[in-house]
Amino acid sequence: MKPRLILIAATSFALALPTLAADPAVIANYTKHCASCHGKDGTGKTTMGKKLSVKDLTDAKVVADIKDDVALKNLKEGVKDSGGKEIKKPFTGKLSEADMKALIEYAKSFAKK
Ligand code: HEC
Repeated sequence: MKPRLILIAATSFALALPTLAADPAVIANYTKHCASCHGKDGTGKTTMGKKLSVKDLTDAKVVADIKDDVALKNLKEGVKDSGGKEIKKPFTGKLSEADMKALIEYAKSFAKK
């Protein structure tokens, strides 16, 4: 590679970084509130995740099916299974709506990594 090309490659990499690197506060929230089921890597291969059959967030097809408004409602109000048993607790009071939205974006970003 010619020096000039290396420079261009390095510059475009540096420009792409801010959009790739998630906010550390969002990662901390994800680790604290979401990783027990969805896994730190988003695959959901945790004891809880397997029990609740959470979908693999690193699968682009799974992510394409996520509706932001539904995901937000599920985080706010929690999720019950068909038998009425709570499988996901509501996060209202623990996380702000802005935090929840940022976490949904983060959850959806696993498939792009
Ligand atoms: C107690 C386990 C549990 C925890 C904790 C949990 N989830 Fe979930 N999550 C689930 C289950 C079960 C589903 C439904 C099955 C699926 O789509 O994987 C789900 C689905 C989702 C979906 C897909 C859209 C939807 O609502 O169906 C997103 C996005 C998501 N969770 C994000 C999060 C985020 C962000 C957090 C942390 C604030 C979180 N989850 C915490 C169990 C959990």
